[in-house]
Amino acid sequence: MSSEVKNGEAKQSVVLDHLGDRERTHSCGELRREHVGQQVVLMGWVARRRDLGFVTFIDLRDRDGVTQIVCDAERNPEAHARLKDVRGEFVLCVVGTVRGRDEKQKNAKLATGDTEVLASEVLILNDARTPPFQIEPTSEKDLASEDLRLKYRYLDLRRPQLQSNLRLRHRVVREIRAYMDAEGFTEIETPILIKSTPEGARDYIVPSRTFPGKFYALPQSPQLFKQLCMIAGLDKYYQIARCFRDEDLRADRQPEFTQLDVEISFATLEQIYALIEGLFQRVFRLVDVELETPFLRLPYAEAMRRFGSDKPDMRFGMELQDLSGELKETDFTPFKSALENKGAVKAIVLSGGANTSRKTIDELSEFVKRYGANGLAWIKYGDEVTSSLLKALGVEAIERIGRVAKADKNDLVLIVAGKIKTVHAALGALRLEVARRERLIPENTFAPLWVTEFPMFEWNEETNNFDAMHHPFTSPLDEDLPLLEKAIEGGEKELLGKLRAKAYDPVINGVELASGSIRIHRRDIQALIFKALGMSQEEARARFGFFLDALEYGTPPHGGIAPGIDRLIMVLAGTDNIRDVIAFPKTASAADLMIESPGEVDARALRELKIRVEG
Ligand code: AMO
Repeated sequence: MSSEVKNGEAKQSVVLDHLGDRERTHSCGELRREHVGQQVVLMGWVARRRDLGFVTFIDLRDRDGVTQIVCDAERNPEAHARLKDVRGEFVLCVVGTVRGRDEKQKNAKLATGDTEVLASEVLILNDARTPPFQIEPTSEKDLASEDLRLKYRYLDLRRPQLQSNLRLRHRVVREIRAYMDAEGFTEIETPILIKSTPEGARDYIVPSRTFPGKFYALPQSPQLFKQLCMIAGLDKYYQIARCFRDEDLRADRQPEFTQLDVEISFATLEQIYALIEGLFQRVFRLVDVELETPFLRLPYAEAMRRFGSDKPDMRFGMELQDLSGELKETDFTPFKSALENKGAVKAIVLSGGANTSRKTIDELSEFVKRYGANGLAWIKYGDEVTSSLLKALGVEAIERIGRVAKADKNDLVLIVAGKIKTVHAALGALRLEVARRERLIPENTFAPLWVTEFPMFEWNEETNNFDAMHHPFTSPLDEDLPLLEKAIEGGEKELLGKLRAKAYDPVINGVELASGSIRIHRRDIQALIFKALGMSQEEARARFGFFLDALEYGTPPHGGIAPGIDRLIMVLAGTDNIRDVIAFPKTASAADLMIESPGEVDARALRELKIRVEG
């Protein structure tokens, strides 16, 4: 059999061999000194081929590693001749003898680097076109563009790093199942073709053929089903659940992703914290990290005040300093107007940063604008104090600011003024950016915490209404219930902004790994929450009628949580790109470049569905 000429590539004509009944004796990552002298059969892909004329070297790769194959013309002329035809990514079967490498020739970078296989027989099981990019460049920065690699994902997946991430993912999921089983949970599958769920993103919808004009929605999470499992008396539920959300994507978001979805009847907060801490501890042990428990707990309000974020990276300090009190009398317009409008002036301090260049400060000013800040004021407490505020505020005020911000000599103070939300968003992000640039974040350190007492509601300026911060089935803190009644029944709607929820997120190194809450199990409170969200009774019934009915048949108090499995693996694998831990991920615009989805459907299918595409 000879291969075809493909796409104008140099004509090659390779006769392919049959595998027959040959079986692998070892993987390409397995051979060590103790195997020296053994006859072995290896199979894999050609990662590299070096031809020195009378000797040919092949790096043979499989999922386990790489083994060096040597074949010399004198000892094995037939095998050597066969290797002449071989190119990168050809699939080979090599029969040979393991031999030790001389001290000089050992390759410390390879687990198999003490050995090599002297080939006596080489079978070419398949040829391969020249790949459109180098699969394993010597340095990560030489990787081909991500779009090209996504188009040929099956080739990129040959990269050892991605293979190792997927194997880690497998081990994590196996560990999760073992843990949940030991804790008495039952794995229950819930449907994928459902109806709109309450997580707040857009739904992916699927048209129904049997009910023309009607649509299923894919679950944004199994939230209501898991609560129904509690009403059903299933007590301890979990599921490795695929979720679908049509939302703006970021480096840590995919349109379809996987959650470990958990729900427990009669749950207390402490029970859920302990369950998840135990689980994370166990999973982190897979990468030899021992997490200390109990995790730190930080109420949302404190996390925002100190770190400007509800998912603070606690591996370093650089907390936000509030200058609002100090500046309350100021005439400097940007600060004055911020404070008059119930905003804030806050700062971060970069220790030893007084020599930061003008160019860097300009870049950081641009950076904070992305988060809605109007600008970035700065003070350098160097030998000479310099500042963008010197003219406006004068030397004395600048010195007082330094004291309030707890800045020392040689420090840099970066200041943002504006609405509290903007100040927190800008400084929270700036804190991370500066720490990254200055390499202040210790590597191989894991700093877990619980962010607790999230607000129940968040004001939405576009719709002029309150949205649920978590989802509308989250229970308020018991002590805040009177506030809810006052807000709804007493007509003081603004009080809703003060209501705190029994909601919690575990965060590690600035990544929100899960979200959960104790739920509302009482029909009367659920009705108040819908009212608070501006949902009429009819609307609530239309969306969640089945659930409201179910709440009336003896709903136990319950609560749960859902760790994002992709995010968890990202942290464990040390990557900040979610696509690195998913076998076949989508791009930031939710496309699969390999299978070219989303795609068109044929006219007949549309007719059957009674769908007409406009434009
Ligand atoms: P939430 O919407 O916060 O809560 O999601 C829980 C966790 O899922 C992960 N996650 C994502 N991962 C990748 N891509 C996405 N687009 C994405 N969106 C969310 C995150 C997040 O912390 N039903 C509730 C859970 C509950 O209350 O029990 C829920 O889905 O790690």
